[in-house]
Amino acid sequence: MGGISSLKLLPFVAGCAFAGYQYPEVPKDLTTPFQQRLSVYGPDAVSVGWNTYMQLEQSCVHYGLSESNLNTKACSSSSTTYDPSRTWSNVAVLTGLTPATTYYYKIDSTNSTVGHFLSPRTPGDKTAFSMDVVIDLGVYGKDGYTSKSAKKDSIPVVEPELNHTTIGRLAKSVDDYELIIHPGDFAYADDWYLKFSNLFEGKEAYESIIEQFYDQLAPIAGRKLYMASPGNHEADCSEIPYLNNLCPKGQNNFTEFMHRYEKTMPQSFVSSSSNTNAQALARKARSLSLPPFWYSFEYGMAHVVMIDTETDFPDAPSGPDGSAKLNGGPFGTATQQIDFLKADLASVDRSVTPWVIVAGHRPWYSTGKSSNSCGPCQEAFEGLFYQYGVDLGVFGHVHNSQRFLPVVNGTADPNGMKDPKAPMYIVAGGAGNIEGLSSVGSQPDYTEFAYDEDYSYSTIRFLDEQHLQVDFVRSSTGEILDSSTLYKEHATDFVEQ
Ligand SMILES: *[C@@H]1O[C@H](CO)[C@@H](O)[C@H](O)[C@H]1NC(C)=O
Ligand SMILES: *[C@@H]1O[C@H](CO)[C@@H](O)[C@H](O)[C@H]1NC(C)=O
Ligand SMILES: *[C@@H]1O[C@H](CO)[C@@H](O)[C@H](O)[C@H]1NC(C)=O
Ligand SMILES: *[C@@H]1O[C@H](CO)[C@@H](O)[C@H](O)[C@H]1NC(C)=O
Repeated sequence: MGGISSLKLLPFVAGCAFAGYQYPEVPKDLTTPFQQRLSVYGPDAVSVGWNTYMQLEQSCVHYGLSESNLNTKACSSSSTTYDPSRTWSNVAVLTGLTPATTYYYKIDSTNSTVGHFLSPRTPGDKTAFSMDVVIDLGVYGKDGYTSKSAKKDSIPVVEPELNHTTIGRLAKSVDDYELIIHPGDFAYADDWYLKFSNLFEGKEAYESIIEQFYDQLAPIAGRKLYMASPGNHEADCSEIPYLNNLCPKGQNNFTEFMHRYEKTMPQSFVSSSSNTNAQALARKARSLSLPPFWYSFEYGMAHVVMIDTETDFPDAPSGPDGSAKLNGGPFGTATQQIDFLKADLASVDRSVTPWVIVAGHRPWYSTGKSSNSCGPCQEAFEGLFYQYGVDLGVFGHVHNSQRFLPVVNGTADPNGMKDPKAPMYIVAGGAGNIEGLSSVGSQPDYTEFAYDEDYSYSTIRFLDEQHLQVDFVRSSTGEILDSSTLYKEHATDFVEQ
């Protein structure tokens, strides 16, 4: 969230500020990997992304089934940067992985250690698993997150250790989930202006927040498959229209986000269905997918679609004439994202992946003020969600946790949680950042749960082909704030209604 309303904060922050930005120390060994991140890249492939303080000729990762036998090596010659970043983004894709198996990996460097991860489950594997949802997660430390919404008076000064409450909980509960989706708003580097001390050093403050944040996230993103898509905070160097005209090119138009994730997020998968029409639709979706902006992936019982609620549809809020005045994109051709979503959803064979989840940044169902709901997003996407029987819509942007009954066009599905035709929706934007939490405010009558007291996130549990459990977790304590189970019969292989 954020934006112009954040200006209200300036008089306050101006009163309590000193020293400017703080970059992490550049290591002596410039091959040292930082900001490690893993992603599902295909049914049997995982991408490893990391940054270095020098350009690499070859980006390589050694991997294997035991720590002492990393007998396979994957390399790429991709090592990219942008002005004014201090680091290069590197990538290697590990292929031919045995599904749902622990792999060990070591990024090729004279100063790196061995990590490990669980490889993706094959599409159609019906084993139960859980996926965490983290959205609107900011840096912590000096430029970091606040702990109270209304007051914003206690910005904790914390060293980069695992005690951001949400990152800390993700670390403590590491055996409870297999992957994470994060549809938008990382770091909040574009909020550097909320600290008066950064006022004349915005360009560096932005980069220092990016570096710190991705170092803080590395123990999670370098350990678990971590899927990204864009939010408004990825668009520009700052959310204030006057200031974003002054952005260096590299801090404009989702550039940082693209360098980081363009080569690590997957194109939509080749179909696992035996139906030839589904195979053709999946091929079409694959060619229209545009990672890291919009794409899908499959994991066990789930088909997960990541959409871009910022650009690339009519009146997109962060687009060239968008209401957010962030002037981003377009990244595809005029109708590419919508054509992608239609083909992708139509291609899903429920006998292979019964659960269809679509995740994006801005919600159209939300509590609180009407501007929390993205009208153009609803116009562009809701009809397709309903038509192709999306089971769950996952959004953030509003900084709290919310759960709604299955709903379409603002009317709750008469079946409720027992085999509805309409999608169920959640907002999981409470992970924590410098803007603090948003108050719940007014609640539509299909609201089932709303929480703004503390930082929180969601865990989606794929129990079996008919039962999906959605939990909300209080980050500081691990307490389950809300738990619900959606029942879907999934009797039809190809849903169209
Ligand atoms: C080796 O890597 C660690 C971080 O993993 C870093 O703190 C240290 O400075 C690096 N050593 C050298 C010699 O660059
Ligand atoms: C963060 O962790 C450090 C070291 O573990 C501790 O000293 C500090 O009090 C913690 N801060 C918060 C806000 O929990
Ligand atoms: C943003 O980048 C995309 C892709 O490079 C480009 O097509 C688009 O025109 C750019 N938008 C602006 C406002 O510069
Ligand atoms: C939702 O509204 C749209 C536009 O008015 C309409 O075309 C569609 O049939 C409605 N869908 C349902 C399920 O009511």
